[in-house]
Amino acid sequence: MKITVINGCEKKGVTYRLKEAFLDSFRNDAEITEFYLPRDCPNFCAGCTVCFRGNQHLCKDAVYVQKIEKALLEADLLVFTSPAYVFHTTGAMKAMLDHFGYRWMPHRPAKEMFGKRAVIITQCLGAGAKSTAKDIHDSLSWWGVSYIKTCSFKLMSEIDWNKLPDKKKNEMTGKLKSLASRMRTINYTKPAHTNIKVKAKFMAVRMLQQSLGKQDPGYTDYKYWHENGWTENVRPWKR
Ligand SMILES: Cc1cc2nc3c(=O)[nH]c(=O)nc-3n(C[C@H](O)[C@H](O)[C@H](O)COP(=O)(O)O)c2cc1C
Repeated sequence: MKITVINGCEKKGVTYRLKEAFLDSFRNDAEITEFYLPRDCPNFCAGCTVCFRGNQHLCKDAVYVQKIEKALLEADLLVFTSPAYVFHTTGAMKAMLDHFGYRWMPHRPAKEMFGKRAVIITQCLGAGAKSTAKDIHDSLSWWGVSYIKTCSFKLMSEIDWNKLPDKKKNEMTGKLKSLASRMRTINYTKPAHTNIKVKAKFMAVRMLQQSLGKQDPGYTDYKYWHENGWTENVRPWKR
């Protein structure tokens, strides 16, 4: 199986150790591709909207963004990690997610995303790990992913991994190892179920696209939806 990991920071701190605990049992038999931010997607979206207009390959950052997109589309399992920075995901993760605005459902979602599984790992000192996970969850869900497992932790005492009590470390890594063993039992040749929330988003956007298409059949997003048959009876999910 293939796993693509997006690390929300480059630091080899607590977030990194937690992610390693999750990946540990996959290391021997999975093909794992990791991206570290901001190193692997270092620039902000400039708001030029060239991607929204159908030309994502002309984005000034296409060399970074398209490499990440390819790895995301090829993966069976997506893993996103982030510490809480002022209650939210790191600026580097947000900057990368902005680059994928054109893959949100109201625009041109990739059909591959609908059957994917994803894991989000976040942690904070006292508060903000859940809102950090939500920042990432929002994008995944609007990309079309339904199967998203979130593991959010509060350190409470200390942010240096080496100074954290063993009990706390074991509690966190234990949860991640048990999630990993459950994720290993999945048959990844079968796409994940698309849930009612993602289907509802899709159907609402479908109505929007049908109405936009009546006003302008040449509109980029409508054309994409129409060419995929989604404004008709075709759906991007298999189950
Ligand atoms: C800029 C910055 C902002 C942070 N904001 C929060 C926060 O809002 N809430 C919180 O509980 N911890 C916050 N933290 C602590 C981190 O979430 C995290 O626990 C800590 O950086 C250790 O993780 P790491 O070793 O993976 O970097 C912040 C840390 C940094 C560097």
